[in-house]
Amino acid sequence: MGKRKGTALPAANPRRSDAMSFTPRVFSGIKPSGGLTLGNYLGAIRRWVAMQDEGMETIYCVVDLHAITVWQDPKELPHATREVAAAMIASGIDPARSILFNQCRVSEHAELGWIFNCVARVGWMNRMTQFKEKAGANAENVSLGLYAYPSLMAADILIYHATHVPVGEDQKQHVELTRDIAAKFNHDYGVEFFPMTEPVTEGPGMRVMNLRDGSKKMSKSGESDMERINMTDDADTIARKFKRARTDADALPSEPAGLAGRAEAKNLVEIYAGLSDSTPEAVLRQFGGQGWGAFKPALADLAVQKLSPISAEMSRLMADPAEIDRLLARGAERARAIAAPILARTYEIVGLVR
Ligand code: TRP
Repeated sequence: MGKRKGTALPAANPRRSDAMSFTPRVFSGIKPSGGLTLGNYLGAIRRWVAMQDEGMETIYCVVDLHAITVWQDPKELPHATREVAAAMIASGIDPARSILFNQCRVSEHAELGWIFNCVARVGWMNRMTQFKEKAGANAENVSLGLYAYPSLMAADILIYHATHVPVGEDQKQHVELTRDIAAKFNHDYGVEFFPMTEPVTEGPGMRVMNLRDGSKKMSKSGESDMERINMTDDADTIARKFKRARTDADALPSEPAGLAGRAEAKNLVEIYAGLSDSTPEAVLRQFGGQGWGAFKPALADLAVQKLSPISAEMSRLMADPAEIDRLLARGAERARAIAAPILARTYEIVGLVR
């Protein structure tokens, strides 16, 4: 049995292929805090659908326990939780082929999260850039949960022995921490129990930027609604937002190199490419030399054409919240069938008598 190592990060595991000896299994999560944007769709949900459609075993979770690390109005959280589930289903997540549920229904997440709080080191948490950004100057006054968030995220992943986690660049550090926690657990208890999970950042999936300021990520919490496209926006709103999106005075270039230093222009071209399952190269071959007066209406039409069937399906699903709850409950049962034996074995390894 290995000795506890103090605060040093464990050395990078030389056997990166460890995850290979585990059955490939995909896990990812999305927080129900506020509405969903085009950024969630193009950046995350679309890729989750693709992985499901490739026939992988996929587990997708509405991470409500993560949402409450910052204040959520209890009158709004149930709606937000169901809306994220509805958005996933409307976008093509099939609750029969994927396991889809909300986190608090599977208490194994929180239980393993506690074990991992005892494995992860304070020094590791202090290095998490997302915490530093979110807490900012207010670090003394944020919840303890926000600080421990990455450890619960590791539990979300490892309670299923998930091998692959599709995430945006901003979450990569958390997946690396997940590997550090797995490695330290395995080392400290002398087991090969948790896999070395891989983040998946390639494939369809992109970082969508703010329509008013191309240096900022499109976020559900920004001050102005004009800076984002919400998944529930109607056709007129989508068109208006794209037409008023900030751009520069130059025409579109004929190749991506011409987008350097033009954050807003680059973002709109990438959104067009994302929505049309194409590439910026192809988009610029078509629109190079044209002005925004031609491009923006084309982008608005494309966005309406792609997003309005999804938002229509979302409202249809949201009209029957009880049915969404039934789907989530069924998903949670299937999730628990995987999680419970892994938690039981973890308790045994740790020496907790049950
Ligand atoms: N932290 C992720 C985000 O903010 C959400 C999340 C929670 C997650 N648990 C996860 C993502 C597990 C992937 C795997 O986007």
